[in-house]
Formats: sequence, structure tokens, C-alpha cells
Amino acid sequence: MDTSDSATNKQWHYVAESELHGKGVFARCFIPKGTPIMEYEGKRISPQEADEQPSADPDNPYHTFFFSLSNGKIIDGAQQGNDARWINHSCEPNCEGHENDAGDRVFIVAKRDIEADEELLYDYALTIDEPLTEELKKNYACWCGAPNCRGTMLALDETPESNPSSSLASDMARLVRAQVQAEIERLQPYLRREIKREVRRNLRLQRQRRRSAR
Ligand SMILES: C[S@@+](CC[C@H](N)C(=O)[O-])C[C@H]1O[C@@H](n2cnc3c(N)ncnc32)[C@H](O)[C@@H]1O
Ligand SMILES: [Zn+2]
Repeated sequence: MDTSDSATNKQWHYVAESELHGKGVFARCFIPKGTPIMEYEGKRISPQEADEQPSADPDNPYHTFFFSLSNGKIIDGAQQGNDARWINHSCEPNCEGHENDAGDRVFIVAKRDIEADEELLYDYALTIDEPLTEELKKNYACWCGAPNCRGTMLALDETPESNPSSSLASDMARLVRAQVQAEIERLQPYLRREIKREVRRNLRLQRQRRRSAR
């Protein structure tokens, strides 16, 4: 892929109101599949700085301008960003993010031929360092309307159904929890007996001490 400045400098896009959400980015003309449309620019920040950053939209705490890099850094499009920050998400996108070989830059590339005035969309596949609950998925709800919309802008790759090793790990965790619970139940009568015995022994000792003190 040619991501030199001369290849990505051509204005393939324009920014306008989107029917999907707020502002969006649209094709200025026909864009052939494989075209590097623009770089996703912004300040490089650490995941910790990203966590501390207030939401870019005061009305929506889950609004995000972040793009995660495989080197662990995050591009914050809200700081020093370009038009790429206005690209909306779709579960069936016509664009995708390509990292350069160094893994420190991302280019938005046409995933298929794109007609003039089509909205440019890529799959955010957001990852959150928390267990994936239904509430979390709702917080990042997707309105893309694609037939295969997964209902959320979050990546669902780590679910047990799609990740056999994660499925095996959760099966094993369940097994260990069941074994620990069974062991607790098995030991309960013995522990109760031991606690009663200990209480009786302490009472006996107290009585003896009181008697010898008189
Ligand atoms: C990088 S901004 C994209 C520009 C956005 N339209 C705006 O005007 O700020 C990302 C935010 O846009 C919204 N968004 C983008 N795609 C969406 C989608 N398919 N469904 C729901 N909200 C979406 C979400 O609030 C998301 O956090
Ligand atoms: Zn969707």
C-alpha cells in the first residue's frame, strides 16, 4: 500500500452531517478499493491518559475519538486530529484502518470500491479493559443498521463462542469454582464441629481462670 504523502494528500473526502450520527465523512468521488484515503491523525497518548481524558462530548460519556495502535499507544483524534476523527462506525464498513509496518501510524483504506457521496465507515471494534456486559455493549450501542449489525461498536472477538481458548479458560474457571464450592460444603459440618469445640474449650479455660483467681 502506498501511504506516501503524495498518495494520501489527494482530497478523497468531505465532511458533512451524517444520518448515522453527528458529523460524518463522505467520498468526494469514486474511490477504488485499496485506496489509502487519509491518515488517522492525533496526539499519541497512553491507555492511562486515555482513561483520565474527559469525554469529547459532555452529553455522551462514551463518545470517543480514540484509535488504538498495536504498539499499545492510542491516537487521540480530539487533540491535533484531522477529518478522520469524524468517520463513523459500521459493522459492515467500506473502509478499514491499516497500520504501517512500524505500527505507529494508521491509514484509512477503502475496503471495496466506494461510490461518490457514500459515507466512509470503518469498524471501530473498540476494546475495553472490562468484562463485556450487556450494559457495556449498550453504552457503546451501534446504530449502523447493517443486516449483520452486532448492536455495539465494541469488538466481540473475545466472547467464548468466537474464541475457543477463551471458552476453554472459562470452562476451567467454572470447574475450579464448582470444586472449591463442593469442598467448602464437604468441610462445613467438620468446621462447625471444630468451632463449637473451640468455643467450649475457651469457656472452660475462662471458668478455670476465674476459679483460680478467687
Ligand atoms: C470518532 S466520533 C465520529 C464522529 C461523530 N459522528 C461526531 O459527530 O462526533 C465517534 C463517535 O460517534 C458516534 N458514532 C459513530 N458511529 C456510530 C454508530 N454506528 N452508532 C452509534 N454511534 C456512532 C459515537 O458516539 C462514537 O463515540
Ligand atoms: Zn452496527
